[in-house]
Amino acid sequence: MSKKTEISEGTLLELYGSPEVNPSDNQTMGEIISQRFSRRGLLKGAGAAAAIAATVSPMALLMADEARADSKSSFNFKEVEAGVDDTHHVAEGYDADVLLRWGDPLFPDSPAFDPANQTPEAQAKQFGYNNDYVGYIPIDGSSEHGLLVVNHEYTAPLLMYPKTQRESADSALQKQLADIEMAAHGGTVVEIRKVSGKWQVVKEGKRNRRITANTEMIVSGPAGGNERLQTIADPSGTKVLGMINNCSGGVTPWGTYVSGEENFGNYFKGKLPVGSKEAGNYARVGLKEKPDYSWANFYDRFDVSKEPNEANRFGWIVEIDVNDPTSKPKKRTALGRFKHEGAFATLAKDGRAVVYLGDDTQGEYVYKFVSTGKYNPDNRAANLDLLDEGTLYVARFEADGTMEWRPLVFGTGPLNATNGFNSQADVVIEARRAGDLLGATKMDRPEDIEANEVNGKVYVMLTNNKSLKSDQVNPANPRPNNKFGHIIEIAEEGKDFGATRGTWEILLKCGDPSIADVGASFSTETTKNGWFGMPDNCAVDSAGRLWVSTDGNNLEDTGRTDGIWAVETEGSARATSKLFLRVPVGAEMCGPLMLPNMETMMAAVQHPGDGDWIDDTRSNTFENPSTRWPDFKEDMPPRPSVLVITKKGGGKIAV
Ligand code: FEO
Ligand code: CA
Ligand code: CA
Ligand code: CA
Repeated sequence: MSKKTEISEGTLLELYGSPEVNPSDNQTMGEIISQRFSRRGLLKGAGAAAAIAATVSPMALLMADEARADSKSSFNFKEVEAGVDDTHHVAEGYDADVLLRWGDPLFPDSPAFDPANQTPEAQAKQFGYNNDYVGYIPIDGSSEHGLLVVNHEYTAPLLMYPKTQRESADSALQKQLADIEMAAHGGTVVEIRKVSGKWQVVKEGKRNRRITANTEMIVSGPAGGNERLQTIADPSGTKVLGMINNCSGGVTPWGTYVSGEENFGNYFKGKLPVGSKEAGNYARVGLKEKPDYSWANFYDRFDVSKEPNEANRFGWIVEIDVNDPTSKPKKRTALGRFKHEGAFATLAKDGRAVVYLGDDTQGEYVYKFVSTGKYNPDNRAANLDLLDEGTLYVARFEADGTMEWRPLVFGTGPLNATNGFNSQADVVIEARRAGDLLGATKMDRPEDIEANEVNGKVYVMLTNNKSLKSDQVNPANPRPNNKFGHIIEIAEEGKDFGATRGTWEILLKCGDPSIADVGASFSTETTKNGWFGMPDNCAVDSAGRLWVSTDGNNLEDTGRTDGIWAVETEGSARATSKLFLRVPVGAEMCGPLMLPNMETMMAAVQHPGDGDWIDDTRSNTFENPSTRWPDFKEDMPPRPSVLVITKKGGGKIAV
């Protein structure tokens, strides 16, 4: 059990061990990287080791050491000092203001936040808990007026409720607390506007909306209506209540909000009926008999002994039409069912929609979806169901630096009845097992993926993989017991995000570069503040520059909190990193997001106070948290919040 006191992704992983173990014998990324290094080693000799991970081509490899000696970051700001305390810090000359906190009103009739007297009804009209993904949908193309879309990933009762409530034996009260948590999950859509240089929430916004774990949704695409999604409450298999554990997400070119259901297995309890065909499927996606949430005590749908198919209705990408607050969100099953981190949506050169997808579990895969239909810039309505038809691909990385996107199509290759797949519905429901059969490459926990529309590259955050054994990797390369993660860069063939082939490089191996055993590959220009571990989310700004936010840095392993780092990807400064913003103790950094005019950055501070910095064994609770950020009032618990970052006096950020 972690020293952290409440459910976080870190603690969940520890509670669940290495949540699921991919049982296939597909090659691990580490094994493939090992092979690549061996091959390159022949080209350049053993001295190439340090340069290999951070270079682009054999030519760059030869040049790298000399070039890096005078490399400089193009990100123009004075770096923040890494460290840990009870508040957040941004680079000098910038403001990082709190825009929205857990409990803040979103509508004219929302009650004010009262932490000692919470209700599900109030929470459903207030900003939810544990903000993760932050997206922006401009109104009339503006970078100063738009819709903010935010995921609320999970809840933390120890920090949310007073002890008298959370330890009460009153079952009606316990049900009320579960209902508050269900209302604190999901997502928020809210209008925001910049007035006199400061961003404000527009409570009167006609499109403002809370989506919760009880919002009615439609299941569309190949698994919609399939018998494996039919339940007592919904014999149609097309109508589901809520989205849960929504981690990262995206905004489509047609202005909808897409959101990934991640650790959905943590909510379900009970044993499947004997002989159920879902046993292997549920084990693979991490369902346990004992959940981390109490919801199943009050709602039979979260008890698989009573509703054996309910868990097949979660683990999808959900698309929300923000223009109509009464629209039913749609679970887009064509994009596969797994522990979705996020959904980065862009376009192929021919106009088809492309969505990059990561499956955040040790040893799981990277995917992308390419639609059959093409985006129509002149007819928004025509794009609204583009994500129902297309091809889901899984990534295989080869030792020679090439990679391939292999299609998960029923009836092709091994995806047939012999292997238990009787339809495309079966393929998407058990996407992980389909990926095994296609020879996909096991990865070190794929988190956010983002395409760079300026240079045609794609960045894959791999947060860590502590269960990777030394006999699975070449010791010269990433890394057994990969504590700090790495970032892979894909170059799609022809710079076309719709391509089915590409090449790949490691952009960065993370961790403290001053400790040789860590094997990090930051450039030599990177300072003691500039390195990081556990890349989780990322953003590419309008200039094509990469910003990375982290989840898991702490005093014990890194002597620093999580934050946002600016990472060079081009030229001689490649793999140079600078710390721009750091979070308060116990928090992780989600988002980040740069608005198109590059004058505003948004980012989400998740689970502040979930961890300590003076006494790391202390229990952090509502009564006694390690920080009361951002309010610092004695009667107010720490509150997950969205930050808005601007340059003092205005202007573009880090230019
Ligand atoms: Fe919720 Fe994969 O981070
Ligand atoms: Ca994440
Ligand atoms: Ca992102
Ligand atoms: Ca995270």
